[in-house]
Amino acid sequence: MNKDNALATILVFDSGVGGLTVYHEIQQLLPHYHYLYCLDNAFFPYSEKSERQIIDRTLWVCRRLVNQYPIDLIVIACNTASTVVLPTLREHLPQHIGIVGTVPAIKPAAAVSQSKHIGLLATKGTVKRAYTEDLIQRYAANCIVEKIGTTELVELAERKMRGDSVDLGRLHSIVKPWVELKDLDTVIWGCTHFPLLENELKLCLPHVKFFVDSGKAIAKRVKYLLQQKQLFREKAKLDEISRHLIFATAPINHIFGFHNMMQRYGFSELGYLSQD
Ligand code: DGL
Repeated sequence: MNKDNALATILVFDSGVGGLTVYHEIQQLLPHYHYLYCLDNAFFPYSEKSERQIIDRTLWVCRRLVNQYPIDLIVIACNTASTVVLPTLREHLPQHIGIVGTVPAIKPAAAVSQSKHIGLLATKGTVKRAYTEDLIQRYAANCIVEKIGTTELVELAERKMRGDSVDLGRLHSIVKPWVELKDLDTVIWGCTHFPLLENELKLCLPHVKFFVDSGKAIAKRVKYLLQQKQLFREKAKLDEISRHLIFATAPINHIFGFHNMMQRYGFSELGYLSQD
């Protein structure tokens, strides 16, 4: 994976495997690229970490990878990080690297809701961020916006991806405040881990008509930036094979389940980013 090869390299970053939901949308739209996926499992979960800790940590991991690989574009596939870290990354990383964030899809949710009663399901950090409040004021002022901030749901999604069964009782108790709100018709996946529990959460909230996330919009934004940078490729040349590597920052628990998941998403290699 070096610059002689004409395929551009996209880094997708999250605290865990949730960002794979975003990676999947990007990779479907843009198959002819190299992809690096980094999960910061040494520092997982981000949900309740301070803003300062998240900013320092995300910058540190991105810098490490930027120093090792010819990265053209970074997607922060984590709402908890994106709602605080984007200005710092844009200021401190090389200017030629495009930075795309993932923030709760408040605007599309407010547009699609018929009852104008919507729910934001996100981490504890994301629901209390000024950035999130600003999105609500700007784009959903005509809606009632309920919020649930949870770390446990992030952990349950991680476990499901390693092959564990999901405890529906736990899920039900997390979203219980919304079960009786029969006119709440739209839920925003405000954490990239939550679409991984889509089927189970739909069972818990049968009256909700619309579930909205940011994945497709991010994939379109990535395509647009690649076009701007003249890196957009409709097709690969015959001898070009895109590579998909996954990096972790700490040893992976349940490695067997993790390998299965890597295969499902088309990753060929697992590497580790050392902490020093
Ligand atoms: N996947 C991340 C998000 O979108 C959060 C996970 C965590 O709390 O570490 O917010």
